Parts: sequence; C-alpha cells; structure tokens
Amino acid sequence: MKALILAGGAGTRLRPITHTSAKQLVPVANKPILFYGIEAMAAAGIVEIGIIVGDTRAEVMSTVGDGSQFGVRITYIPQDQPLGLAHCVLIAHDFLGDDDFVMYLGDNLLEQDLAAFVQAFEQARLSEAPPAAQILLKKVPDPHRFGIATLDTDGNVVHLVEKPADPPSDLALVGVYLFDRTIHLAVSSIEPSPRGELEITDAIQWLIDQGYRVRCELLTGWWIDTGKLTPLLEANRLLLEKIVTRIDGTVDDASIIDGRVIIEAGAIVTNSTIRGPVAIGRGARITDSFIGPFSAIGDDCEVTNSEVEHSVIMTRSTITDIPRLEDSLIGKEAVVNRTQLRPRALRLMVGDHCQIDVE
Ligand code: DAU
Repeated sequence: MKALILAGGAGTRLRPITHTSAKQLVPVANKPILFYGIEAMAAAGIVEIGIIVGDTRAEVMSTVGDGSQFGVRITYIPQDQPLGLAHCVLIAHDFLGDDDFVMYLGDNLLEQDLAAFVQAFEQARLSEAPPAAQILLKKVPDPHRFGIATLDTDGNVVHLVEKPADPPSDLALVGVYLFDRTIHLAVSSIEPSPRGELEITDAIQWLIDQGYRVRCELLTGWWIDTGKLTPLLEANRLLLEKIVTRIDGTVDDASIIDGRVIIEAGAIVTNSTIRGPVAIGRGARITDSFIGPFSAIGDDCEVTNSEVEHSVIMTRSTITDIPRLEDSLIGKEAVVNRTQLRPRALRLMVGDHCQIDVE
C-alpha cells in the first residue's frame, strides 16, 4: 500500500496567506496541516508516500524533507497546473505503479485514525467481490461545497456528484480515498468538468458505471476541510482541545498558567496570563499580555502588551499594544501595532510579511 498526498492547488480562499505560502503548511495547534496527514499515513503503516506539489513546491519540500522525520520515504511529484484531483492520479502513475494506494487531500484534517479504514479495504480486497475503491463519507450541513454520494437501501454507493447546486444527499466525500490500479483506467477515461478539472468524483462514478464495486464507510469523528478561515480556526480549536500540558520554556513568577498549555523550549513568558488550551512555539516571547483559549502562537513570535484569543499567529510575527485580537489568522513575519490608545477588538487575516498599524 502506498499513499498519494495532494499538496498542490491554488488555495484562493485563504488569501492573503496563500499568496506566499502553501495552504497545506498553515499551522494548526502549531503544526503544519500537512504533517497531520503524513503522520496519519505513517500510523497506518504506509512508508512510500508520493506528494503532489504545485507552485509552492519549494516551501513544501523544504518543510517536509525526505520524510525521515516521520519515518517514511517521500517522492515529490510536480504538477504544473492544478488540473484536478484525478489529474494528480494521472501524473502519479509511475510512482504508484500497480499498487493499491490511499489518496489523501493535504488540506483535510480528520480526528479518526485511518489505520482501521485502510485495514477494512485490505480485508475487503480479499473477499469474493473485491472493491476497486473505498470512500469515506460524512454528513454535512452544506453539501453544495463537496463531492456528494447517494447510497441505495443496502448502503452501496450508486451515484457521486461534485459540488451539486441541488444536493441529492448530505453525505460528503471526505478527502481520503482508497484505490486499486483500476483507478488509472478511470482517470484516463473521464473528461474535464465544467470547472475545467479532472474530478476524482467523476473517476469514481466511472468505476461505478463500469460495474466495479465502490465501498464506503461513514466517518464518526470530526473532519475539517481547512481551506477557509473559519474551518481553520475550528481545526485549531479541536486540536488544541487534545493537548497535554508541557512547559519546556521559561515562565516568570509574575505570570499565571491556567489550563492545558504547551510552552516550547526557548519561549519566555513574562508578567502574562496564559489561559489554555494554548500552544506557544519555540523561542516565542510573551510579555505583559493575556493569551486566551484556543490560541496558537508560532515559533519566535513576540506578543507584547496585548490580548490574543482564538487565533493562529504564524512564526516570527509581532503583536504589540493590541487590546484584543480574536478569531484571527496572522501570517509569518507580520507586524501588528497599535499607534493610538483606542480599545477595540480586532479580527484580522493578515498575510506574511505585512505590517498593520491600527489607529
Ligand atoms: O475536502 C473534501 C473535498 O475535496 C471533496 O468533498 C470533493 O469531492 C473534492 O473534489 C475536494 O474538493 P475541494 O474543492 O475542497 O478540493 P481542493 O481544490 O481544495 O483540493 C484538495 C487538495 O488537493 C488541496 O490540498 C489542493 C490539492 N490539489 C488540488 C487540485 C485541484 C492538487 O494538489 N492539485 C490539483 O490539481
């Protein structure tokens, strides 16, 4: 079993962050989203992982490396343009060969461990009617945003449609798929969709139309497609809920640590209150500030005389004299300053390297 993780694409919905960075590298609970996917593959016993990379390939490759930090081997597969999820399978054929594989969308986050999902496919492959594919489904309140499945009364997948205006069900395709080699035939048989992409949803529908069996499982835990700000902050919240307190940095006597908090080595907290769940990265400096629940402060950030809550602050950013920053995503090396004394809460999405002076 191999894995194919998709980390190309455009990421328009997280602009301005994704003007300069890969959306799959935005951190949640201080770890890039993509790392959770790689770790899930490693935990499912998969060692050979291909990663599709696009315009942001240099950043993805330098952050992820050869995979040794995860105990896996990574092969990068460049995609010149985001021509669709099925196009990714098409260009990964040499890497995948005839092996079964998991396809994992690099911007998806799942609570559930994937080992059982992979084992269920391997088990079913030994049966008398082996499936050519297995999909994971989850009921969603906004089905027009996803690939949607229709099941028959026995629970078999009978129809799939990508982002329908009039959804036939509320069962969304989660971004984790299992395939045998038949999918290579499918992706080379379909035509681009109206949005100009080769859709994996259409390729799986092709399998169904040709009489191949497509298994499905229902996801029990939470699942988040992190492509937009609100779900990203939600993922940050859900992952911070699970942290266990670990204080490796320095906290002075005037500071209060309340609830579950991670303070990484080299971080210095001075005259501040940290109310968990909160993660503070390596080398960060928190001075005369309040860091409230569900905040992740990246490595080497500086927060001074400010209040931050329910926000993700990416590495090397500086927040100074801000009375309240909430529900915000601040890019790397950004500077947010207040120049006048007018208290009010800010909700910001700030790109990498920006400077914002609040008046
Ligand atoms: O998140 C689940 C949904 O993912 C499914 O319900 C849909 O059926 C499926 O089409 C997909 O929809 P999205 O519109 O959310 O896909 P997105 O364009 O965000 O791409 C998913 C990941 O794949 C993302 O990490 C970028 C990467 N990608 C995307 C394209 C189109 C590539 O690497 N290459 C591509 O050509």
